[in-house]
Amino acid sequence: MRPHRLHFGSAPRATTGMVVSFLLSLWLQPALADMIDTSSMEPWEVCGLCHSLDGNSRMPKFPKLAGQRAAYIEKQFRDFHDGNRENDGGQMQAITTESEPANLPAIARYFSSLPAPQPVTDDMDTENAATLFTKGREDLPACLTCHGSTDPALPVAPWLEAQHAGYLAKQLTDFQNGNRKNDPDEVMRTIALKLTAEDITRLSVFIAAQIRPERTQ
Ligand code: HEC
Ligand code: HEC
Repeated sequence: MRPHRLHFGSAPRATTGMVVSFLLSLWLQPALADMIDTSSMEPWEVCGLCHSLDGNSRMPKFPKLAGQRAAYIEKQFRDFHDGNRENDGGQMQAITTESEPANLPAIARYFSSLPAPQPVTDDMDTENAATLFTKGREDLPACLTCHGSTDPALPVAPWLEAQHAGYLAKQLTDFQNGNRKNDPDEVMRTIALKLTAEDITRLSVFIAAQIRPERTQ
């Protein structure tokens, strides 16, 4: 085989300077990949890749962050970072090591100040789930006791209404089988153990279909 030769043609002629700077740019690329200038980006833009910039992620794999409590966003971020929450397939953990910790309060404020997500309705029968959510049952307190309250005597619980049903079901299952264990005093693990698979499905579908009330954070 003949050695392959670069052929630049005759008109217009590439100057040596052009060729050198082209080759130099190829050679520099791997080194530059780690030095991409992100200084003009807002710190939450990277989060938007998965959670969407409006905080309403399209895929149930990624929780909606719009209107979520800032304190809850910060706690989860720190839990992923410190290895206390590991049920994310590694994606959040990787991102927490890339993001400047000093930016966390601003990022949490950004997402929490966005308008709450829109509910997604479903025609599944969720009457028992509705009772459990709002009133509880003999073996369980109402979910809203914590998930609708900012009482400082209670642990910081996220707003759940209008979250993706698939995401809610995954979290409840993860608490139940111990894949997620960052809940203070095992509060959610204890509750999830009392739920059947059917409870989890119906609760998740019911909660996703609820309008999130206006609440103070
Ligand atoms: C590559 C995709 C990806 C990016 C980028 C990303 N996340 Fe996540 N995030 C996830 C996944 C996946 C989960 C959790 C999935 C699970 O538990 O099943 C998650 C969960 C979270 C949660 C928990 C929410 C809840 O309701 O419990 C918070 C808070 C969060 N991310 C904040 C952020 C912030 C802030 C950024 C930007 C600094 C960010 N994420 C960037 C993928 C991503
Ligand atoms: C005693 C208070 C309390 C009660 C009652 C309670 N929860 Fe929770 N829940 C919490 C706390 C606190 C967290 C956040 C744990 C953490 O810090 O990661 C949580 C987290 C969750 C999450 C994860 C949400 C997310 O965005 O990742 C789901 C889903 C959930 N709870 C569903 C329920 C359901 C359904 C009920 C009722 C059957 C319920 N909870 C009752 C305190 C409570």
